[in-house]
Amino acid sequence: MDVGIAESAAQAASIAADLIQRAVRAKPELVLGLATGSSPVGIYDELARRVNDGRISLAAASAFMLDEYVGLSPDHPQAYRSVIDDIFTRKVDIDPARVHGPDGTAKDVEAACIEYEQAIRAAGGTDVQILGIGTDGHIAFNEPTSSLASRTRIKTLTKQTRIDNSRFFGGDLDAVPSHCLTQGIGTIVEARKIILIAAGRGKAEAIRQTVEGPVSARWPATALQHHPDVTVLLDPAAACRL
Ligand code: GLP
Repeated sequence: MDVGIAESAAQAASIAADLIQRAVRAKPELVLGLATGSSPVGIYDELARRVNDGRISLAAASAFMLDEYVGLSPDHPQAYRSVIDDIFTRKVDIDPARVHGPDGTAKDVEAACIEYEQAIRAAGGTDVQILGIGTDGHIAFNEPTSSLASRTRIKTLTKQTRIDNSRFFGGDLDAVPSHCLTQGIGTIVEARKIILIAAGRGKAEAIRQTVEGPVSARWPATALQHHPDVTVLLDPAAACRL
């Protein structure tokens, strides 16, 4: 695990974009793994800047989202599909038809999860996975006690995550869905390269556990310790307990 402590969240995002730039130049048909949440927004902005000034192109790339709420239609402003379209897809030159996410409105949720795993595999697997982290150490929506070998599946969100994410729903906890579809930890760690970005004091304990703690389902991100190519990029506040 490479851990980089940047001067600021903006600098961490720029370093992440450098890594992605290198990867997409080496392989234009890159398969990118996309995270939602506020943490990766700086990376997406930086990628958009580089696409707009011609330094990189994502025109041949494809992308797979980590997770999606169950029950929100894809055009609901807080459905992860529309969030990703707002913060990433529309800002870069990727083909929107090649940006994929789990189908949170599927009637047969189990079949949708299996299909999603197959689609990732059919694309050749994820080359570079961008990750944020929850305050409780969750990655995607793999909450504490999730199996470290888990695959894409339906999960119940913890109260803490619903509280954390209620800010996106106007502070209304009842408006936050109770379930989600999420890539499993076993799915995520199959990505060839993983970039985890975190900023702010609220993430400091999760980062301490992820980097220095014992590997345990209690802190799902600790599973990354077994991965051969993980870069953790932090601002000083997120790194303050290391
Ligand atoms: C959600 C997402 C995660 C994300 C986490 C942290 O729970 N499912 O993928 O890492 O929030 O969000 P933020 O970056 O806004 O702190």
